[in-house]
Formats: sequence, C-alpha cells, structure tokens
Amino acid sequence: MNSNRKGIILAGGLGTRLYPVTIGISKQLLPVYDKPMIYYPLSVLMLSNIREVLIISTPEDIGKYELVFGDGSQFGIKILYKIQPNPGGLAEAFLIGENFIGNDDVTLILGDNIFHGPGFEKYLSKASSRKKGATIFSYYVVDPERFGVVEFDRSGKAISIEEKPKKPKSNFAVTGLYFYDNNVIDIAKSIDRSERGELEISDVNKVYFKNNNLNVESLGRGFAWFDSGTHDSLIEVSQYIQAIEKRQGLKVACLEEIAFNKNWISKNLFLQQIKKFSNTPYGEYLKRIIISSV
Ligand code: G1P
Repeated sequence: MNSNRKGIILAGGLGTRLYPVTIGISKQLLPVYDKPMIYYPLSVLMLSNIREVLIISTPEDIGKYELVFGDGSQFGIKILYKIQPNPGGLAEAFLIGENFIGNDDVTLILGDNIFHGPGFEKYLSKASSRKKGATIFSYYVVDPERFGVVEFDRSGKAISIEEKPKKPKSNFAVTGLYFYDNNVIDIAKSIDRSERGELEISDVNKVYFKNNNLNVESLGRGFAWFDSGTHDSLIEVSQYIQAIEKRQGLKVACLEEIAFNKNWISKNLFLQQIKKFSNTPYGEYLKRIIISSV
C-alpha cells in the first residue's frame, strides 16, 4: 500500500528560448512579479499537502535553489536536491528521483508552470487521493502546438495525446502538473527516447492512457495557467499576479502563509521569516498575516 505522496519540481533545462535573459540565471529563478518563479509550483505542491519535495536542476544551477530554499524547514516541509546532468526530458525526473520516491506516489510539477484559480485545492485533493493511475490537467489555449495536446470525444473522454503536434487535434494543452501512482518509475524506465533524445512525459501519459488508467481534469474558463516559456508569457503572468495581488491585497504563492495556515510552522518560525524579509513588501505582508491570525 502506498501511504504517502512525494513531490518533484523539475527546474532544469537551458532556458535557451529566453536567451539572452537566461544566460546568467536559471529561468525558474526569474521574478514573476514579486517572487521567484519556482515559488508558484512549490505552492501547488504544498496546497496538495505534499511535504517532501525534490528539486531537480542543472549542475550549474542546483546550488542557487539550495540558497533560496535550504532544507525547507521554514515552510514546515523537507526539500532535497538532485541534478539532471543533461536535458534528457521530463520523464527522466522519475529515474533521477527513484530513491526519493521509494514506494510512494508522486506528483511532478514543472518549475515554470503557474496555476491560479478558484477551487484549485479541490482539484488537487481529488487528484491526490486517487490511489491508482494518473491524473493530468488540460487547459484550453490558442497555441496548442507548443504543448502536449489532449483530444476528447463528445462525452468528454480523452481519446488521444500527442506531444507538440504540428496539426493539433484540439485546443486543449496538457499542463505541467502530473499526479502518478508508483508505477510511473517502471513506466519511465520502459519508454524509448524520442527523436530529440528525451524521455517524453507524453509517452508516460500514453502508457497510462492505454491501460485505461489516465484521468484528465479540465481546468475551466476563468482559470489561469501560464508556462512562462516566452518573453511575452513571462511578462503577462507577472502582470496577472500583480493585478490580482493589488486588487485583493492577498498574495499568490506566499509559502510561509500556506505553511502557517496548515499549521506546519510555529508562530516563532513565522516571526523569524518576518525578520528575514524586514523592510520588504513581502515582509510587510507576512506581518499582516500574523496580526490577522490573532
Ligand atoms: C512540457 C511538456 C508538454 C507540456 C508542457 C507544459 O513541454 O513536454 O507536454 O504541455 O511542458 O508546460 P516543454 O515546455 O518542456 O517543452
């Protein structure tokens, strides 16, 4: 019986599509409005109640992630780090993370994927609680050819999955958030490398699909999903976060807030974080959280 679910954030890649911006800095550490991009996917894992996380990045960049997050105890979680020596594809995460995953289930999220929308935690807990098979999330986009694409029949059942098809069969992109049972390790070992020499996540999903074990949840209209893979999407997502945070005065992906609300960290630890961020808008926000909690 699997008793637990682990989380992996893949923050590898060379970020060449964002050159020259990413020559000197890892893409997933670029700011998305007021925090590093990787805060957002980490918040998704925490909102899924995952407390053991593996961050995978390049040999050059892994140290920077350790600098940003340390052991994760400030968020009441445990963060470990591993390198992906070459960009070998998303599904390589399950080989690199095999020991970390052990006998548990695993959720993979890409370090450049940003999700925000009503009822998201319900989607997450539904996916998390499935003990068998896989759950992926689809989202209607104008440019499906840039993504994995899932096609549905009239009843809403998924009938095909293709990775970056030249002629997409639908507008539904597969987002970079994947919930798997423990079989994913063996499945990742069993697939062949694609023409671009990578272990493709779409090939893993196809195996679950063939075995009738793939659940596809559609994130509806009004939901926001960005992959921040282009200069335009990077600025758009920053503006989106800025707009919503300014309007409500609430932060998206404030990791200390999530941890505190879940009772994963003590008030003392929270106060230490406030000190660390003193004289910043982030620190001011943390102060407000603690004041409103008493
Ligand atoms: C990857 C996946 C693709 C998915 C996308 C989501 O593509 O291969 O199926 O739709 O992430 O962001 P990449 O952006 O790494 O090329």
